[in-house]
Amino acid sequence: MTDHYAVIGNPIAHSKSPLIHTEFAKQTAQAMAYEAILAPLDDFAGTVQALIKQGYKGANVTVPFKFAAYDMADQRSERAFAAGAANTLSFTVDGIVADNTDGAGLVRDIQINKQCEFAGKRVLLIGAGGAAEGVLQPILAAKPSLLVITNRSLDKAQAMLSKAAATSTKLQAIPLAELGDAAFDIVINATSAGLSGSPLAIPDSIFAPDCLAYDMMYGRETPFMQQAKRCGAKAADGLGMLLEQAAEAFAIWRGVRPNTQALLQQLSL
Ligand code: ATR
Repeated sequence: MTDHYAVIGNPIAHSKSPLIHTEFAKQTAQAMAYEAILAPLDDFAGTVQALIKQGYKGANVTVPFKFAAYDMADQRSERAFAAGAANTLSFTVDGIVADNTDGAGLVRDIQINKQCEFAGKRVLLIGAGGAAEGVLQPILAAKPSLLVITNRSLDKAQAMLSKAAATSTKLQAIPLAELGDAAFDIVINATSAGLSGSPLAIPDSIFAPDCLAYDMMYGRETPFMQQAKRCGAKAADGLGMLLEQAAEAFAIWRGVRPNTQALLQQLSL
């Protein structure tokens, strides 16, 4: 018996998730199939209900449906609750269970694959939209000494910080235009600027020596990554995060954690 899963988004044609989960299934000898499904912008819930009727066991959810996925769930994990959004749904006898593996995927990629610990580091998170919100709590759980959230509009960065759980990390919200000459050990771009290829107005001084500059986007070298490299930082795209959030979702569904290393090599820029 083959269990069926899918990734739901709009657009979805570019998604690497079917390839990734198919490889994971092969590697762990799981009898499962995984496909990409385009949901109409105004009927995400209908698409999910149709999959449940057909006996699907779960789905990943991507842009722009992560909030809708969270809203329609019957149960939510703590990480989904903290993010207010879900990227992983399990269809169970008790209903739809929502989780969010994005933040865990980011932290695991940075700490394990990139060998860069958050503990004691100065971290700059650029952006205060859905992508940034999804990773805030897992970053704080990794105990950086300082976390600055910067955004064009300060109110969104402040709103994010006001929802953060109690932490020993020093927290600050700063407008993008007022970053000054502060330097950081890890800089994470969680804006959608790279999508349009538009440059981010960030000063070179944010990249401390040995800085890791991480763009949550994957698939091409963004202007953010190019600027970081020019400043002597190590630059990474979000492919490792994509693989790790997928591995985490796979582990939730199948109870076995696939190895991401071979695929990371194979798919890297
Ligand atoms: P996502 O779900 O990808 O996070 P979003 O919720 O629309 O999408 O948020 C996009 C984020 O990228 C926001 O933080 C946005 O900044 P504003 O809140 O000031 O709009 C940020 N962003 C997009 N393009 C940007 C650019 N060219 N420069 C700086 N920030 C940008």
